[in-house]
Amino acid sequence: MLKPARQLARAVLEKLRRRQGARAVRQARRPVSRAELTAGLERLGILPGDVLFVHSSLKSLGYVEGGAATVVRALQDAVGPGGTLLLPAYYMPGGSIRAACEQDGYVFDVRHHGTHMGRLPEAFLASAGIRRSIHPTHSVAAWGRHAAWLTAAHHLAPSVFGQGSPWQRLLALDQAKVLGLGVSMGPITFYHVLEDALGAAFPLPVWDAPARSLPCLDLAGQRHEVPLRPFCAALAQQRIDHRSRDDLRAYFATEFTQAGLLHAGQVGEAASWWIPAHAFYAHLERLAAQGITIYATPEQLAARPLA
Ligand SMILES: CC(C)(COP(=O)(O)OP(=O)(O)OC[C@H]1O[C@@H](n2cnc3c(N)ncnc32)[C@H](O)[C@@H]1OP(=O)(O)O)[C@@H](O)C(=O)NCCC(=O)NCCS
Repeated sequence: MLKPARQLARAVLEKLRRRQGARAVRQARRPVSRAELTAGLERLGILPGDVLFVHSSLKSLGYVEGGAATVVRALQDAVGPGGTLLLPAYYMPGGSIRAACEQDGYVFDVRHHGTHMGRLPEAFLASAGIRRSIHPTHSVAAWGRHAAWLTAAHHLAPSVFGQGSPWQRLLALDQAKVLGLGVSMGPITFYHVLEDALGAAFPLPVWDAPARSLPCLDLAGQRHEVPLRPFCAALAQQRIDHRSRDDLRAYFATEFTQAGLLHAGQVGEAASWWIPAHAFYAHLERLAAQGITIYATPEQLAARPLA
């Protein structure tokens, strides 16, 4: 089959699959409206003017009337016109930095590439007024007051999460929060900011390959070589986002709750939470000094029992 025809067939199949998935959720779950989501975010402690980095699971929210675009609007309602939203719009061929580096001829094009991070980031990218950072694996989408500044220098950052990256810049803003909508403390990119900031001083070597660079095209079609570094594949198997690490996710949730930093509640049907970004970073730093990182082994956790 010719390539365009194959692509079209794939797109049609995906559309049918998604329609079936949405139907299944509608039959099984309670309907949730934009107003209910906004009210849930407000009850959770999200304020006008907040700067939110959002990780999400759409299906955890219940059956959202209008789909992911409704969640985007509810988030915008909650932070208001003076607020800012950031979502992971990562496009990662092969599913990792290492795999992206191994793709022959891969060039990230911010004008054409979508995202592999789920339905909410997809809807966010398709909505109005979005800025997007130029990065071959970790492009971030943003809306609102600080969107342009947060995304402007990612391609110039010396590392994925380093100086000038959206996460690093997030730390400079008041009211910056990391928000989990229906997700655990596993798939949270913010952890990596500490690794890039500490470099060789981080308690363990999280990279096992030299830094590389991949080409990216910006909105004007101009080419940039953007540095990035593959994570150690073996360590990723014991990281907090690995399916085997319920213990580490539970440890972090309890640790951050007991430290008074994790604010939990319900948005729609989803168990949700937020942590203020500055305090999040400072506490990760404190934990790392005590040998607890997102790679901590069960033995390391046992050696530092929770209160
Ligand atoms: C992986 C992950 C996205 C899966 O969550 P999910 O809810 O299954 O997936 P999405 O958020 O993409 O939502 C799609 C699902 O919502 C459901 N859905 C469809 N329409 C819906 C609607 N109107 N209302 C509610 N749910 C709906 C469907 O089940 C759909 O899945 P399907 O198309 O495979 O059937 C989530 O667990 C996760 O990890 N999120 C964080 C991702 C991230 O930020 N990663 C970066 C950190 S490293």
